[in-house]
Amino acid sequence: MRHQVCIVGAGPSGLLLGQILARAGIDAVILEARSAEHVLSRIRAGVLETGLVDQMRACGCGDRLDREGLVHHGFSMAFDGRTHRIDLAGLTGGRSVVVYGQTEVTRDLMEARAESGAATVYEAASVEIHDFDGAKPWVTYWKNGATQVIDCDFVVGCDGFHGVSRASVPETALTLYERIYGTAWLGLLADVPPADEELVYARHDRGFALASMRSPSRSRFYVQVPPTERVEDWSDQRFYDEFRRRLPEAVADRVVPGPSIEKSIAALRSFVAEPLRFGRLFLVGDAGHIVPPTGAKGLNLAASDVYYLAAGLREYYEDRSSAGIDAYSARALARIWKAERFSWSMTAMMHLLPETGAFGARMQLAELDYIASSEAASTAIAENYVGLPY
Ligand code: FAD
Ligand code: DHB
Repeated sequence: MRHQVCIVGAGPSGLLLGQILARAGIDAVILEARSAEHVLSRIRAGVLETGLVDQMRACGCGDRLDREGLVHHGFSMAFDGRTHRIDLAGLTGGRSVVVYGQTEVTRDLMEARAESGAATVYEAASVEIHDFDGAKPWVTYWKNGATQVIDCDFVVGCDGFHGVSRASVPETALTLYERIYGTAWLGLLADVPPADEELVYARHDRGFALASMRSPSRSRFYVQVPPTERVEDWSDQRFYDEFRRRLPEAVADRVVPGPSIEKSIAALRSFVAEPLRFGRLFLVGDAGHIVPPTGAKGLNLAASDVYYLAAGLREYYEDRSSAGIDAYSARALARIWKAERFSWSMTAMMHLLPETGAFGARMQLAELDYIASSEAASTAIAENYVGLPY
């Protein structure tokens, strides 16, 4: 089979890129290792920057998001018995974020793709990418008892941190930057009303906690735990007890401890691979970079990568210009590094990080106290949180 573009991975970045390309009349196939049901079962991000919302609208996938997404104009930072609200709208000239689950973004994109008739191969095993340093890359995978072959102009790796795309690049061609935090988030999803109208990020001597939500009747709560913890050891009761201890009292009192629908542990990591292009292979989203979740940048960064690459590919096919794809890696990385910085600084400010000790804890409190007393410092948090310009 021949397609203009072969996208590896049907997570949010692969599906969004596929949808934008389909609308532009560019023929892209998506190869996904898992089933559609499995992709939809992963509970991940929940806060969307307007850049992603605008892209969903522009590619015809914004209707449900506009109906059901919760527009948030602020969030709170709790520390040392105090709560400081970051007035996103007031500090950024009216900007906001939208609370809408990654699962729902993925579902909307999947449905649009199915309607468009564009090709998606689920349960494509053993994907291999060949000759991407030449003019004619090709991709193979195993399906229906045989090796299948796709010839294409470009391969786009949207296959996440553990995918095959980055692993296909010779080590000598990559520079990797990494920070492991030695800590993790335990997340719980439950059909209970949110603990507060807006998100609450809490720094506590027992560790970080975050009260988030998916809808007026569904909550997403997190507590910081050691990465060695096992989900099985955390009953719902144990989770809620620990969660409430770390929240401001007024918020803790409003937590309704309903049964969990899902619980999972994710280790915190910062990671960037440079560059994001190798001949005719591009890396997009988690395939090229990871942020720790504090500040909700992972999914949003995947979306800005898609924005730059989709524009470059359209230029290539519509205007016969390589300028956009040539600029992709540098343009995307400039924004990625700023989101890496924000996620790293929010993580360092809010978490119990043993190696920083008592001095580190005092630095956190001083920084939070400064943010609470300074409009300039609060503005810096707000403009990063709503998302830096594309
Ligand atoms: P992914 O969503 O990882 O999608 C990659 C896809 O590629 C998957 O469907 C995978 O099955 C497929 N794939 C992998 N290997 C292959 C292969 N060899 N062949 C074919 N297909 C393949 N971000 C936030 O902002 N807030 C959060 O709370 C948050 N929580 C997270 C929790 C966890 C456990 C993880 C892992 C991430 C979390 N993130 C969070 C980050 C956010 O979810 C990601 O940034 C986002 O999913 C990136 O999208 P993506 O499409 O690039 O990659
Ligand atoms: C969520 C995750 C985040 O990392 C964050 O900063 C805010 C919200 C969430 O899953 O709802």
